[in-house]
Amino acid sequence: MKKDLLGIRDLSKEQILAFIDEAKKQKAKVKNKQLRDCSLKNTSITTLFYENSTRTKMSFLLAGEYLGAYADDLNIATSSVTKGETLIDTGLTLEAMGTDIIIIRHGMTGSAHLLAQNVSCSVINGGDGTNEHPTQALLDVFTIAEHKPSFEGLNVTIVGDIANSRVARSNIFALNKLGANVILAGPSTLHNANMRALGTEIYTDINRAVKNADVIMGLRVQLERHKACQFPSLAEYAKFFGVNNQTLKHAKEDVLIMHPGPVNRGVEISSQTMDSPHSVIYDQVENGVAMRMAILKYLVS
Ligand code: CP
Repeated sequence: MKKDLLGIRDLSKEQILAFIDEAKKQKAKVKNKQLRDCSLKNTSITTLFYENSTRTKMSFLLAGEYLGAYADDLNIATSSVTKGETLIDTGLTLEAMGTDIIIIRHGMTGSAHLLAQNVSCSVINGGDGTNEHPTQALLDVFTIAEHKPSFEGLNVTIVGDIANSRVARSNIFALNKLGANVILAGPSTLHNANMRALGTEIYTDINRAVKNADVIMGLRVQLERHKACQFPSLAEYAKFFGVNNQTLKHAKEDVLIMHPGPVNRGVEISSQTMDSPHSVIYDQVENGVAMRMAILKYLVS
């Protein structure tokens, strides 16, 4: 049993599979409106998001409430962070008020670890800089498990802004542990050679990268993290690296289209492909609530 969930890097294959099993049970309960599980009764959870979010924040708040917790968000823009309060002091303040689990998102790599080392309550990493987004990867592998019989030998191509993507890193860790083959594709300015050391191949030709793919995962172009112009224009990015119905012709017939969201429609994925039967993008959103219920239950059990 661990105090925190900070990264996929720390998890075993068995632990990832256990999260998928538990999320499956939680999803059935949510679907059937059987929300009488009070595992988190008398537990207080707080979201502490220094970066914007719709999915991660809302699904943690809903997951907490579905499990009987007191769930609240600290709005950074109106908080004492604007008066200069540090991350550690903010965490200690929330803990002093009785928070049992803090879910943090922050632009700095290592911020979740820093907080976890300085508070006694549990910390969940909701995305730290370009490092990891572990709960996203867990809901992603849960979504894949719903559609594919096994991870062994599964070909997963991750396309886009790889250098800046904590989602890509967490997914590479998770998929490698589960036995899938991970291929990366994107402009060379958005590659990071270190990714090869994580056991992946890197391509700049998207059609080659998706050959025989079982899953294509698009990534958001994170303009806010680009220090310089990384490609001439969004239109050119879409032309060479956008996933569209032409791209799908190179992949397996039953390829799944995934994206962590938010999607820039027509840039990372064409609207037609996003709304096609291949797309499980809204299944990912739905599964986010169930997976986060499984994670919260694990930390309080
Ligand atoms: N996928 C993801 O983290 O989405 P949000 O930024 O909306 O939380």
